[in-house]
Amino acid sequence: MDKARLLIIDHMHVNDLKERLGKTQEFLVIGATENPDLGFTIAERHQPEVILLDIDLPGNEGTSWAELFSMEFPMSSLLLVTASDSKKVLRLALQVGAKGVLNLPMEDDKLVRTVQKAVQQDKRRRELFSVQRKTKPQFKTIVVFNTKGGVGKTTLSLSLGVAIRHITGKRIAAIDLDLFSGNLALMAGIPWKYSIKDVVDDINGLDRETLDSYLTEHPSGLKILPSPMRPEFAGFIHAEHVETILGLMSEAFNYVIVDTPTYLHDTAIPALEEARDILVVTTLDLAAIQNMKQCIDLLSTLAMKPKIRVVVNRLGYTGGLKTKDLEDELGMKVLTVIPSNEKAATDAVNLGIPLITSAKGSLTARRIEELATKMLASDDHPGAVPGLLSARR
Ligand SMILES: Nc1ncnc2c1ncn2[C@@H]1O[C@H](COP(=O)(O)OP(=O)(O)O)[C@@H](O)[C@H]1O
Ligand SMILES: [Mg+2]
Repeated sequence: MDKARLLIIDHMHVNDLKERLGKTQEFLVIGATENPDLGFTIAERHQPEVILLDIDLPGNEGTSWAELFSMEFPMSSLLLVTASDSKKVLRLALQVGAKGVLNLPMEDDKLVRTVQKAVQQDKRRRELFSVQRKTKPQFKTIVVFNTKGGVGKTTLSLSLGVAIRHITGKRIAAIDLDLFSGNLALMAGIPWKYSIKDVVDDINGLDRETLDSYLTEHPSGLKILPSPMRPEFAGFIHAEHVETILGLMSEAFNYVIVDTPTYLHDTAIPALEEARDILVVTTLDLAAIQNMKQCIDLLSTLAMKPKIRVVVNRLGYTGGLKTKDLEDELGMKVLTVIPSNEKAATDAVNLGIPLITSAKGSLTARRIEELATKMLASDDHPGAVPGLLSARR
């Protein structure tokens, strides 16, 4: 028999509940966190049978989270967890359609019975409704790639992250895999305490929640995992670490944007493998085109050609070269062309403001927004992005 999957979101009793429910044969705890925001993303990803939600969350947020979970996950049985036995909780449970209240402390057998009951109710509901949700939640890793520097990979990683966060309001993360000389966090203009090196130091004890605590939040809500503070730390980070980190990030965030270095390093391979889209960013000049061809050959060797989306950035004076020339040379369509905006780009770096914000209203910012929208749209219609991948592939 399949185990019933439980998600526990609790501020005070998370470890206790996880241990007591996790040791039974019939339940599988697929997530246990103090953070309701992270819990929400795990629920989207796994659609657990039962969600145990702490109603005594700090800041009186329990009620609104209960309403949100009950609305967004009608197929999961919601159990409210509380340490108070006030009637208010019962009333709230009725109001939001929760399947029960766990009044802690509670004996093991009663706890198990209450959850079992919720599992049964969930089963019945799932049988009744074959269509689970109107809209499928989206999860995706986007790698911004090119073995050429100065084309705008970091600029676009940051601006795309901010744009996707703005459009969706979901949990979005950006990770800097330019391990020797990354500047994603610097460009974001945020002071940061931890980098990927700290995450790797803690790799054995790492889970979604601890990983989250190493990320620094940008005012837009985008969460950033910076590259090591010092280049000599880069050697401590191996491909298998990146694989573990990205695996956890893809569970804890709806969208993960990966910025990559100019050189090809084995640490980039797990990112390319995890990617749903590989945005190969280029400028429009002969040297860049030559480099692009090498990049595409390389990705083809790795059987990753179907994931490639070509983006032209910093378009200004091209000496007569056209986007069409690039398309002909590569045998692929260009997804988006982003015009150059020197002033906004310089301000962006110097002031630590994402280009999408520093160039707000300009064609450059609008094109980046369009790119973000295309990245989101391609979730629902894989391969249906206009101009994506020419038939000549
Ligand atoms: N659309 C743009 N218009 C003008 N300058 C840009 C644009 N995008 C990026 N830049 C500038 O190009 C330089 C390189 O960008 P960066 O993102 O660091 O590239 P990469 O990460 O590929 O090395 C930076 O000075 C940045 O401000
Ligand atoms: Mg860069």
